[in-house]
Amino acid sequence: MSKSQGSIVVLISGAGSNLHAIAQACAEQRWSARIAAVISNRADAPGLGVAAAHGIPGLVLEAAERPTREAYEQGLMRLIDAHAPDAVVLAGFMRVLGAGFVEHYSGRLINVHPSLLPAFAGLHTHRRALEAGVKWHGATVHLVTPEVDAGPIVDQAVVPVLDDDTEASLRARVLEQEHRIYPAAVRALVEGRLRVQGQRVRMLPPEASR
Ligand code: GAR
Repeated sequence: MSKSQGSIVVLISGAGSNLHAIAQACAEQRWSARIAAVISNRADAPGLGVAAAHGIPGLVLEAAERPTREAYEQGLMRLIDAHAPDAVVLAGFMRVLGAGFVEHYSGRLINVHPSLLPAFAGLHTHRRALEAGVKWHGATVHLVTPEVDAGPIVDQAVVPVLDDDTEASLRARVLEQEHRIYPAAVRALVEGRLRVQGQRVRMLPPEASR
């Protein structure tokens, strides 16, 4: 890859449907950046197959391969930094990342979370939304800061909670929205179109690339 073209590293743990959405948008919209590598913390993540299907190298680094969280994250940073990425994209990466890691990628680290943050930070968001009886639920794309699920919000999408919803049906409705807002946000990040002021983020339109 020539260095005039930006690079993106995507971290996954699971199905990789957001990875697919980003890889597809990247190819179809001819972004100025390419996904250089996908790294999974699980050797059995189906998302590694998604990476292969897009011709993207997939790497695995499991936590059991390192004695401590710090050692794991050092190893992860070495794998990531080999690609000098403009963006490190968490796409269903189910590990809490330490402050050292997060600060190393400050301004380049982005996440999608399956709720309307600050509501339902953490796990089991769809189940908790149903239990809480909320009428609206959704997804949030945010820049990652050391406090979990609390970084500046780049974009959100709202979906209705229907009377007959199950956890699975609600997850599917939210995921569809993740696939819409996450690629656009990642593209804006790699094109330098995010303006951050405190907790507020402005996404400039595509023609405003740096
Ligand atoms: C997505 O719903 C994403 O928002 C969520 O994991 C799923 C991954 O799906 N992430 C988190 O919960 C992070 N806290 P995918 O592997 O099909 O993209």
